[in-house]
Amino acid sequence: MDHYFSDAPGTPEKRSSIEFTVNDTGYRLATSSGVFSAGRLDAGTAVLLRKAPRPRRGVYLDLGCGYGPITCVLASEAPDVTVYAVDVNSRALALVQENALALGVSDRVIAAKPEDVPADVVFDGIFSNPAIRIGKQALHEMLLTWLPRLGPDGEAWLVVAKHLGGDSLRDWLVGQGWAAEKEASQKGYRILRVGRGE
Ligand SMILES: C[S@@+](CC[C@H](N)C(=O)[O-])C[C@H]1O[C@@H](n2cnc3c(N)ncnc32)[C@H](O)[C@@H]1O
Repeated sequence: MDHYFSDAPGTPEKRSSIEFTVNDTGYRLATSSGVFSAGRLDAGTAVLLRKAPRPRRGVYLDLGCGYGPITCVLASEAPDVTVYAVDVNSRALALVQENALALGVSDRVIAAKPEDVPADVVFDGIFSNPAIRIGKQALHEMLLTWLPRLGPDGEAWLVVAKHLGGDSLRDWLVGQGWAAEKEASQKGYRILRVGRGE
């Protein structure tokens, strides 16, 4: 079965574009069939972009970037921000590269498969609308792979729908020793802030 999180979606590429506004700036990004929420900006991603504080400088990870709405906003809003846009879906990676190029930020956007991110890169922060539908075990493994790559003061900002387990994910993160707080809640989505704590 073909999923948006396939490595190489088997469906023919049907291209389109999405328009949205964040902080009074309008974006028009290329999307395609076979990538997550190709028809409109995902409601959870919109809540994350509304609620999460913006970095001014540093190196960030957009974990599960899709066609790149989070990456493109972070990189466009701050000229000293570099974003690793990471996804398992090669079509998504091609789109995020294309979108970064069109926005003039491609020199600060590195689109990569998870295994291609150099092991010594330390992130000042992680932003993610994580792929809940890969299953709880895979989700947990993914988070335990990337959260330890935060710098000492780094934080992850995650959006998870309440009905997809936003609250239990927070509890699980706390059980794993992370400081995880529900920072905001809107339209059925939880915004979690995750850090190393004391
Ligand atoms: C909920 S979508 C969010 C996409 C995009 N950030 C957005 O807001 O539209 C989650 C993304 O995670 C990707 N993904 C699935 N498993 C992954 C993994 N193990 N590592 C990185 N990305 C993964 C999927 O291909 C998908 O693009």
